[in-house]
Amino acid sequence: MSRLVVVSNRVPVQEKKGAASAGGLAVALEAALEKRGGIWMGWSGRINEEGEPGPLSIEQRGNITYALTDLTSKDVDEYYFGFANRMLWPICHYRLDLAEYGRTEMAGYFRVNRFFAHRLAPLIKPDDIIWVHDYHLIPLAAELRRMGIKNKIGFFLHIPWPPADVLFAMPVHEEIMRGLAAYDLVGFQTDHDLENFAGCLRREEMGDMIDEGRFIAGERTFRGGAYPIAIETAAFAEFARRAGSHSMVLKAQQSIEDRSLIIGVDRLDYSKGITQRIDAFEHFVTNNPAHQRKVTYLQITPKSRSEVPEYEAMQRMVAEQAGRVNGALGTVDWVPIRYINRSVSRPVLAGLYRLAKVGLVTPLRDGMNLVAKEYVAAQDPDDPGVLVLSRFAGAARELNGALLVNPYDIVGTSNALARGLNMPLDERRDRWRRMMNHLLEHDVSRWCDDFLGDLAA
Ligand code: ADP
Ligand code: G6P
Repeated sequence: MSRLVVVSNRVPVQEKKGAASAGGLAVALEAALEKRGGIWMGWSGRINEEGEPGPLSIEQRGNITYALTDLTSKDVDEYYFGFANRMLWPICHYRLDLAEYGRTEMAGYFRVNRFFAHRLAPLIKPDDIIWVHDYHLIPLAAELRRMGIKNKIGFFLHIPWPPADVLFAMPVHEEIMRGLAAYDLVGFQTDHDLENFAGCLRREEMGDMIDEGRFIAGERTFRGGAYPIAIETAAFAEFARRAGSHSMVLKAQQSIEDRSLIIGVDRLDYSKGITQRIDAFEHFVTNNPAHQRKVTYLQITPKSRSEVPEYEAMQRMVAEQAGRVNGALGTVDWVPIRYINRSVSRPVLAGLYRLAKVGLVTPLRDGMNLVAKEYVAAQDPDDPGVLVLSRFAGAARELNGALLVNPYDIVGTSNALARGLNMPLDERRDRWRRMMNHLLEHDVSRWCDDFLGDLAA
């Protein structure tokens, strides 16, 4: 078996001890790589202003060898906070209104990709398989090819790929599409993303899908496919089963008393639909007097990308909104919304999901959304909760036992909450079983094997 070299901007060693990584890429890849073993190259999370970068810092943890590089503050501002998170992220999440294009940031993005290629190249042996992840590093293969690297290189996009009319608002979209054409296999979360990508190539007359899964763009042919990312289903279910003895889970259970728990877990990101969700909860409580004082909504939301102005604004907005709703609806012995800005360990998270009667997962747009899958995996088979899921999450294509909602429709989401909380046991079991069977069969190891099998073929 060839050695696997994974490259991503974010790597989970950056986290503080005890806290879990928030972010689907780090969570899923860590699970997949632990089994298979390999090298994982990425940003150390550190800023180093020295002119010449020092050697890569190498750290072995279990089966994974981490090879990490520092970046300068100019790199981080332009490449990560700038082009990746103020241009590519909003565009790929259909938020033209939030996209900020700057030539300096764009140049920084391509420069840091070249830098990553120069740091990576000396590590690569002829038989290695290289797997690049996510929107930060789209031009990496083109840079590696320019340096004469002939290995198989695959790319997986964790976020949505938008339709042409949205993508083309980005001034350098052709360069970005050409970047993808330098890979041997490009993976998307869903077939909608794949179709959007094919449509973009066609509309710009850059190329096309020539047959199922094969693309042509200029001189190059390459493959593309949908590989919905997944979780370690069995292991997560086991965490949840045992979590009852965890003191933090016990405390949570005692503190909610006999109220029904609704849970939301998301990075604090405008794509997650958190403000619409709070509106829906407020509507639900206001319009369902029988549930007043009988429900607690726990929203666990670690801050994310705080240096980006749109995220900072979001943080203020959500905190104010949760405070306002609590002020309006709460009583001396009932706080309707518990709003927490921190990460929790995976066993605790699994235990909290299991306590919740409803998992409320309502992104306005999401590549996949692993929280939806984790919520299902964590349920008690005898008394499972109900997943209320946005139709705009990639996960909605697979989780056919969820109550699907349009997150922009506040009343519709509020109605789904009511339906979820009142759903009879038989229906809950039936819906949960369908989803759980799917998740057991399609877990993260299978996702990894499917992608790497196709890349090696
Ligand atoms: P995204 O990748 O956009 O953040 P996903 O739902 O796909 O969204 O993945 C989020 C991952 O981060 C999940 O594995 C989830 O468990 C984890 N996560 C999110 N919030 C927290 C938190 N507060 N504590 C621990 N893990 C979290
Ligand atoms: C999403 C992206 C990942 C990213 C994660 C956390 O899952 O697809 O690439 O790592 O969010 O965001 P951050 O900016 O903290 O890495």
